Order: sequence, then C-alpha cells, then structure tokens
Amino acid sequence: MELKMASMKVALIAVFALFVTARADYVRPKTRKVLDWPWKSRESSGPHQVHISLAGDKHMRISWINEDGSSPSLVEYGTTPGVYTSSSHGESTSYKYLFYRSGKIHHTVIGPLEDNTVYFYRCGRQGPEFRMKTPPSQFPITFAVAGDLGQTGWTASTLDHIDQCKYDMHLLPGDLSYADYLQRRWDSFGELVQPLASSRPWMVTEGNHEEESIPLLKDGFESYNARWKMPFEESGSSSNLYYSFDVAGVHVLMLGSYADHDEYSDQYRWLKDDLAKVDRKRTPWVLALFHVPWYNSNKAHQGEGKSMMASMEPLLYAAGVDIVLTGHVHAYERSNRVNNGKSDPCGPVHITIGDGGNQEGLAHRYIDPKPEWSMFREASFGHGELKIANSTHAFWSWHRNDDDEPVKSDEVWITSLISSGCINEKKHDLRKILMAP
Ligand SMILES: *[C@@H]1O[C@H](CO)[C@@H](O)[C@H](O)[C@H]1NC(C)=O
Ligand SMILES: [Fe+2]
Repeated sequence: MELKMASMKVALIAVFALFVTARADYVRPKTRKVLDWPWKSRESSGPHQVHISLAGDKHMRISWINEDGSSPSLVEYGTTPGVYTSSSHGESTSYKYLFYRSGKIHHTVIGPLEDNTVYFYRCGRQGPEFRMKTPPSQFPITFAVAGDLGQTGWTASTLDHIDQCKYDMHLLPGDLSYADYLQRRWDSFGELVQPLASSRPWMVTEGNHEEESIPLLKDGFESYNARWKMPFEESGSSSNLYYSFDVAGVHVLMLGSYADHDEYSDQYRWLKDDLAKVDRKRTPWVLALFHVPWYNSNKAHQGEGKSMMASMEPLLYAAGVDIVLTGHVHAYERSNRVNNGKSDPCGPVHITIGDGGNQEGLAHRYIDPKPEWSMFREASFGHGELKIANSTHAFWSWHRNDDDEPVKSDEVWITSLISSGCINEKKHDLRKILMAP
C-alpha cells in the first residue's frame, strides 16, 4: 500500500514536471494549409501581380501581368496621387509551360527617382493606382528578410508581420511560390505578395523550387526568370540567377546556389569583377544572399552547400562580407562570425532564415552537440529585420510567428568589419585572389 502511494506520488510529480516544462517551452504551431485563391484576377484585364525591384542607381523596375495582349508596357508616375508627371515604356514577355500559357508579363524601368520618397503609379494606362516608397540613399536603412515563403496561412501571417514593421526593402534568399510545376500557383503567389511587393522593392534570388526543369522539354528557371526579373544586366551579370546592387551604403550580393559556381564559372568570374569594384567608403557594409546555407546545424540539407562554399567562401572572406543570409532549411539559425568551419572575428555572420511559412513545414531535428559557431537556432516560422544604423552598427532581430503575434525571439547588434579593422588587414589577400587568372 505504501509502495503504491509512493509510486503514485512519483507519477504525479512526473506529470507535474511535464506540465511545467511544456508550459515553459515554446509549443510550435502546426503546418498550415495552402491558401485557396479564387481566379477572378485572370479574367480581369487590369494589371495584377504587381511588384517592384531596384534597377540601377535611382531607378525602379515595375513588373506586372496583364491578360489583355494589346495593353502597353507603360508606367505613369508622380509624387501626388492621380497626377502623373512622368512616364516610361518598357518591355514584355510571356511563356508557355505544357498546357499553361502565361499572361503578358511587363517590366518597365522608371526613373531617375528621388530617394526616400513616396510615388504613385499605374500600369498600362489603367487603374488601380499603386503606391511605393523608394529606399533612402543614406543610413539608416531597414531590410525585411524572409525566405522559403510559399503560400500558406503561415506565409500570410509572416507577410502580415512584415507589413507591420517599418522597412525599406524586402530581401528574399530563394524559394518563392512553391508552384512546383503548377504554373497557376505562380499567379496566385503574385497576387498574395502584391500588397507588399508593389509598395517596397523585393530583391530575390533563386531557390530549388524556382527551377521547374523537365528533361528534354524545359530548361530550368523559365517561369522565375520571366516573372521575377532582377537587375542582373545593370550589375554586369549575364544571368538573372546572380547579380548585385547598392542601396544606402550597402553593397548586396545576390548569388545563385543553382548556377555554376566553381572557380571557372561565369558566376565566379562575375563575382570577382563585382567585388573589385566595391568601394568601402561608399558602401561600408557588404551583404550576401543565396539559397543553400554553408553553416547549418539542422539535420535538414546537411552538406548541400559544400561545393559552393569550397569555391566562394575564400573570396567572400577576403572581400570582407559582413553578413550572409540564406534559406532552404525551414528553421532559423544565427552563427558567430565564421570562416573555414570555425569562429573567426573577420568572417561573416551567417543567418539561415528559410522559415517564411511554406507547406513543407518546419525542420525540427538538430545536430547535437551544437557546433561551437552556432549562436542561436530554433525551428519556427518567422521573419528577420536588419536595421543598418550607420557605417559601424547594425541591429538584427528575428521575429517568430508565435500564435500570429510577431514575437521578437533573437536580437543582436552586429558591428561592421570596417570598424574592426579586418578590412585593412585583408587588403593584400583580396588583391591576390582578385588578380589570380
Ligand atoms: C552608430 O550607431 C550606434 C547605434 O545606434 C551608435 O551607438 C553609434 O554612436 C553610431 N556611430 C556613429 C559614428 O554615429
Ligand atoms: Fe529550398
């Protein structure tokens, strides 16, 4: 009898302990369903799926889709609603994919534009009117960052939270629509992101879900390249899969995990030329984005970034890249400053932020013990905000979608490599790499 009482007590304590730890722990929400979209927009002749992206200094590319083939690639714009003092003509394209035929996809570059200014614009001489803000030309600047978006209820809540923050530009390290061959899902993704993507520039690079190649029938990235044209020509690149741009004292490298990246590749050659032109007095910060992480202690996608890391890490290190942002792994992780597999005060901080909310769900399993370089890791949906305050200080925060509230879960001040003296020390190494044939 006494024994029975004792074991009951133990059981009770165990249940209590479980209850307490469960309460103290963050309980991860479940995967959410893919959103359903009515197909109204495809019947209307008005512009839809509007999004904007930087296109060289003081210029913006306006992209939209229209079902009416005779509609012009014309953007009218100005700083007062309904008063269009300027206009630009652009280009259009379309594509077929098995039984799918896309609408007319327009890309029109407008400018020169004032920095940090609200513009009103319309597309194809037709309403509705859209409103956008150009980025500042000086610090501070705030980037919203979210990768692996997809189009689920969680995507919607991530976008909601981004909408609530004050930011100047969206950076997306790959995996946009998760259309995965169903081309209509590119259209529904375009509709889903339009409210945000038509009002702030969205700078994206490709992930594996953009590829959609079919042996003997389709090369990769056809839909992605047609719809999400980025300023690769403006940055001297020959491919939409990698490019760079400057904004407010930041040089941003948008690299391609799914373009050739060995030392003899076009991408590598272009990257060397691009880095040779970086002037740290004009752009004290250098960021790099690509899809597949190099520093990842999640069990998902282990080692997939190895070959790109082998060829490009020495180059990014010598060039003094401050922060690397990646996706692919559906979880969040932030590293110490690292290089060559271990902490190094002159290497970049690597951040994996592939937790935008897609239908594949979260990557929960981690390698234990945690590697020495891993500072914070958690499998939750969310988004990041990077506020670059001035040439020396930036504030990074990660906001998880906890019960639909943006809970700030990880935050850190990052000081630039310029301010730590690393850049000066590396000058010789960088020259050597850049000069190599
Ligand atoms: C840069 O910003 C940080 C953080 O706000 C501040 O502490 C520092 O004094 C600033 N530096 C300069 C040179 O303004
Ligand atoms: Fe991916």
